[in-house]
Amino acid sequence: MQTFIAATIIALIASTTAAPTQNLAARAPGDVTICTGENYTGECTTLSVPFYDCYHLEAPYLNNVGSFKVDAGAYCRITYTAENCTMHGDAFIWPDTNAPTLHHFDDPATQENIDAGSTMTSFLCQECTNCNA
Ligand SMILES: *[C@@H]1O[C@H](CO)[C@@H](O)[C@H](O)[C@H]1NC(C)=O
Ligand SMILES: *[C@@H]1O[C@H](CO)[C@@H](O)[C@H](O)[C@H]1NC(C)=O
Repeated sequence: MQTFIAATIIALIASTTAAPTQNLAARAPGDVTICTGENYTGECTTLSVPFYDCYHLEAPYLNNVGSFKVDAGAYCRITYTAENCTMHGDAFIWPDTNAPTLHHFDDPATQENIDAGSTMTSFLCQECTNCNA
């Protein structure tokens, strides 16, 4: 019985220490490209932000994003209805479609075509293991 309890405790410790290791492995930088103009024109920057970290935009991109692209292997939640990342974000940006025209963006909440780029403040990306790109 004692051996069983000890084995159970060891198994529990192993499983709780294994989880953070997996998260660390998932925190590889995912690159995003942000441009002030639509269709990746104007001023552009490529950022490597760790997965699950909220990135708050700075000038000239704050409230001024024309296009947003995420490299393969990740997807992002962008926030354009709040000052900083919200729990779920306002929209997902997938690496196969991206968001080339954020000033003419189909808002998932309202189904309306809105200017999301002029109020976009932040984004958060995470690993995507089953994305098409
Ligand atoms: C971006 O490209 C789309 C599709 O080609 C086009 O309809 C749109 O007018 C372009 N936007 C700008 C600002 O060039
Ligand atoms: C946005 O939120 C992140 C964490 O969620 C925080 O680190 C950052 O300081 C915030 N930025 C601003 C400008 O509020």
